[in-house]
Amino acid sequence: MMYGGAFFIAYCFIFPILISVSYGCPTGYKGSPCTDYQPPSLICPGPSLLINTEKGKATARVLLTIQVTDNSVDANPNAVIVVRSSHVTGDELPIGRTRISFNATDEAGNVAECSFSVVVKDTEPPTCSGCPADIVIEATTPELRVNWDYPRCSDNSGFLPIIQVNRQSGDLFGVPGSYVIYYKVSDGSGNVNRDCSFKIILKVKTCPKFPPPRNGALACTPDDFLTCAVLCQTGTDFEFNPPLLYYCSGGNWQNWALGMPHERKTPWPNCAGERLTHDSI
Ligand SMILES: *[C@@H]1O[C@H](CO)[C@@H](O)[C@H](O)[C@H]1NC(C)=O
Repeated sequence: MMYGGAFFIAYCFIFPILISVSYGCPTGYKGSPCTDYQPPSLICPGPSLLINTEKGKATARVLLTIQVTDNSVDANPNAVIVVRSSHVTGDELPIGRTRISFNATDEAGNVAECSFSVVVKDTEPPTCSGCPADIVIEATTPELRVNWDYPRCSDNSGFLPIIQVNRQSGDLFGVPGSYVIYYKVSDGSGNVNRDCSFKIILKVKTCPKFPPPRNGALACTPDDFLTCAVLCQTGTDFEFNPPLLYYCSGGNWQNWALGMPHERKTPWPNCAGERLTHDSI
């Protein structure tokens, strides 16, 4: 058979080659006697690893895994490869970039090296306590000095955060007015806490709105009860003498009487006595 003959020839050629390899040096060895010239193969992760700081800490723990192989282990399963490194797994690394290097040495002294960077990123904003609550004040002056307690802030990095605020405690604020006090608390990594922002609401203190006198009427200027006069229905009279006008100032009713006898008390008097008519004042 043609096929049988071809097979036989190929077998004769291959056999001597297999014999010669088995009598040579193992892979990565040469010379006589055979010596190992091939360094280990060392594969680092990377080029860089990014990890976040642990909560409340200025560091992150790194887990290091590398792959090492060597021809000497193929030749002798008991061969020892010594691996040294600048860091060990579980090391706490600071915020920023840390270079981590490894080397592996085989028994013949061949060395392989690799290195990579671990970047520890701080993603945790500063924390604050004592943030001011919203402030609401009824004021009797056109401007008011408003004070509040400063928040106390700290950061996991261990450095004091930068506190920026658009107004300072003790500043003058116009009345009436509504103001937002923006607190921006930042760390060196650009993390920001704005939770301490709050509002200041300043209102003009208004005078108490008493009802009209019984059996009488109340006449006020339309602009928020600023000035009022009281009147009695015909045939009735005030229980005590009111001023000509009441005007609201500083949250209290003041009297305007042009020297006429009057009593400075509020609420204003009711009207008493016989009513002659039902429809006139
Ligand atoms: C191997 O790594 C160790 C630890 O980082 C270092 O001290 C040593 O110098 C390195 N050896 C070589 C040959 O690079």
